[in-house]
Amino acid sequence: MTHTVLVTGAAGFIGFHLAQALQARGNRVIGFDNFNNYYDPRLKRARTAQLKALGIEVIEGDLCHFAALQQLVQQTKPTHIAHLAAQAGVRYSIDNPQAYVKSNLEGFVNVLEVCRHHPGTALIYASSSSVYGANTKLPFSEQDPTDQQVSLYGATKKSNEVLAASYHHLYGVPVTGLRFFTVYGPWGRPDMAYYSFTQNIIEGKAIKVFNHGKLQRDFTYIDDIVAGTVSAIDLSAGHEIFNLGNHRPVTLEHFIHVVEKAVGRAAIREELPMQAGDVSATYADIGHSQQRLGFEPKTTLEEGIPRFVRWYREWSLSK
Ligand SMILES: NC(=O)c1ccc[n+]([C@@H]2O[C@H](COP(=O)([O-])OP(=O)(O)OC[C@H]3O[C@@H](n4cnc5c(N)ncnc54)[C@H](O)[C@@H]3O)[C@@H](O)[C@H]2O)c1
Repeated sequence: MTHTVLVTGAAGFIGFHLAQALQARGNRVIGFDNFNNYYDPRLKRARTAQLKALGIEVIEGDLCHFAALQQLVQQTKPTHIAHLAAQAGVRYSIDNPQAYVKSNLEGFVNVLEVCRHHPGTALIYASSSSVYGANTKLPFSEQDPTDQQVSLYGATKKSNEVLAASYHHLYGVPVTGLRFFTVYGPWGRPDMAYYSFTQNIIEGKAIKVFNHGKLQRDFTYIDDIVAGTVSAIDLSAGHEIFNLGNHRPVTLEHFIHVVEKAVGRAAIREELPMQAGDVSATYADIGHSQQRLGFEPKTTLEEGIPRFVRWYREWSLSK
């Protein structure tokens, strides 16, 4: 393959795995990340050390520094930008809106501008299942309306889709948006429930169970997300949006049982009402992704969670 892929957010969870998969099949990969402290930067540094050992460099920089981003693209001439760097997390966006405006709006426009000024560079960017907001029709289809946002995070991801569409229309930038559904796996994100549940159950601390476990999530294993993203890079569509989800939603209650089984210990539960910004269910219709990307998620929660727990135990011992 002759691709050169600039992976933004390469020190992050998904970027770390994507960078490795691309390099393993012969692509040239350049990483980019600002190593912010939204969660423990030691985890980002450790991922980066692994990438470095494989010959993948992660350049330290911020999306909001346009000149530096522009210079990096001029020097490395990527054929594709896999844009994963963003301020993630629904709950954090309730109290910290500015972080999202910076990275997800200003930073996103900088990436679009770079693509505009380097014609031929295809943009594949991370959107989110959060864009479905208050949508109650299940499963969520790319055809469904996404104009009722319930969190600032979702609103910035929806804005990304709208901004990308306008750059495609005005300047012909090839843009593909990937709506990821609750991604989990080894080297995962400490701010997400699967991580904190595992940590707390192991440490004998209570887990926060929102809405009495009556939430539903379409948990998607990292390798399946990476496979879908790699296919989207290869397709480099003109302008398309894809759901990348497992298509097998489970209740929070069932999810807790799977984590308890993998850890080998029962959870202490703190029952809490539904949180602001949360949605009661996510469930991906993947028909379009199956057809266009050959996307076939393979990993069940029962297979994926034990893999995460194994990694978590090793990681927590190594710190
Ligand atoms: N993990 C999920 O379940 C999930 C679900 C839906 C969408 N997404 C999206 O997928 C993408 C990757 O998510 P992730 O789970 O790997 O998150 P992550 O937080 O682990 O990775 C994002 C990386 O981007 C970097 N970053 C943030 N702002 C930056 C900036 N201004 N300049 C440079 N780097 C910056 C961070 O340091 C981090 O390493 C994000 O866009 C996220 O919104 C993730």
